[in-house]
Amino acid sequence: MANIKITRTQNSRIGTVDWNNLGFGVYFSDHMFIAEYKNNQWNEGEIMPYGPLPMEPGLCTLHYGQSIFEGLKAFRNVSGGMNIFRPDMNAKRLNHSGSRVCIPAYDIKNNIEAIIELVKVDRDWIPQQRGHSLYIRPVIFGSSNFLGVHSSSEYLLIIMTSPVASYYPEGLNPVKIMVASEYVRAVRGGLGSAKTAANYAASLLASAKAKEQGYAQVLWLDAVTRNFVDEVGAMNIMFVIDNELITPPLVQGTILAGVTRDTVLTLAREWGMKVSERALEIAEVFEANEKGKLQEIFGTGTAAIISPVGQLAYKDKNIIINESKIGPIAQKMYDTITGIQYGEIEDKHGWNIHVDL
Ligand code: COI
Repeated sequence: MANIKITRTQNSRIGTVDWNNLGFGVYFSDHMFIAEYKNNQWNEGEIMPYGPLPMEPGLCTLHYGQSIFEGLKAFRNVSGGMNIFRPDMNAKRLNHSGSRVCIPAYDIKNNIEAIIELVKVDRDWIPQQRGHSLYIRPVIFGSSNFLGVHSSSEYLLIIMTSPVASYYPEGLNPVKIMVASEYVRAVRGGLGSAKTAANYAASLLASAKAKEQGYAQVLWLDAVTRNFVDEVGAMNIMFVIDNELITPPLVQGTILAGVTRDTVLTLAREWGMKVSERALEIAEVFEANEKGKLQEIFGTGTAAIISPVGQLAYKDKNIIINESKIGPIAQKMYDTITGIQYGEIEDKHGWNIHVDL
């Protein structure tokens, strides 16, 4: 895929952007990348102006949800150019998700190349302000038209980008989270580890009910015993209890293998922290709080980066964590990860793909 065909827009929308109020996923940059899967193979793909797609009502994905997506970010490097953070991880995870819902794999090298070229075309859309970034959203969905339940024979991969501020309006201020007691998100053997549309649809009702009560999101428990912590849906979750950093393991296949999760675990191990990927009962969290040993809770995700949790509600319990202030571990994680992303801190792991602009 050496030379991607590029058709540039004649009507840039960049002048309509309110850079001081970006929100999250509100604005779409001028261009998108599209590749098509037909006759058992992906075509070369091309970059064209972002815009509507022709669609028939029989589009199978509307009926059966055969859709997967990713989220990654590009940052303006403080000494020039831009950094795309760990795109290899996202490209691999896209194929993992696809394998679970019968979507054909997309070449990892081509995926990264398409992202680099797309971001170069829309370089002016990469925000200047520290804390802001260009969110990159690849999505693949079945594009055949039929009503029988089977997988699609044709697919579209679309990569779009969006200049964003923080995911939560709270920014780095702690969010309030409600533990789901009525609904579940994913079961063992289900779709939990795949970034597929269905998981997000499954989360909407509980999230809406939590929001009505003033909570930013829902913390999911495992669907079998409803005792163990899983994830927050838009992010993985981490606990600091008695100086141990604890997060649920990936082995059950019910949670997403987060790129930021991996980044945080890698850094924490390097810093000499005790790190455990282990099953954690929700009761243990509340007991630790009673004993004064619950130091911090924070979410990790590409969109959210690090999101401290200041309040956790579960049934009749409601606790405040670290006086509802960001804790030292969450702060150090945020500073280190964003420092690497913006090119302020040495990228020892080679996590960034640096692109000259
Ligand atoms: C991300 O962190 O990139 C996500 O995909 C979470 C959410 C915006 C769906």
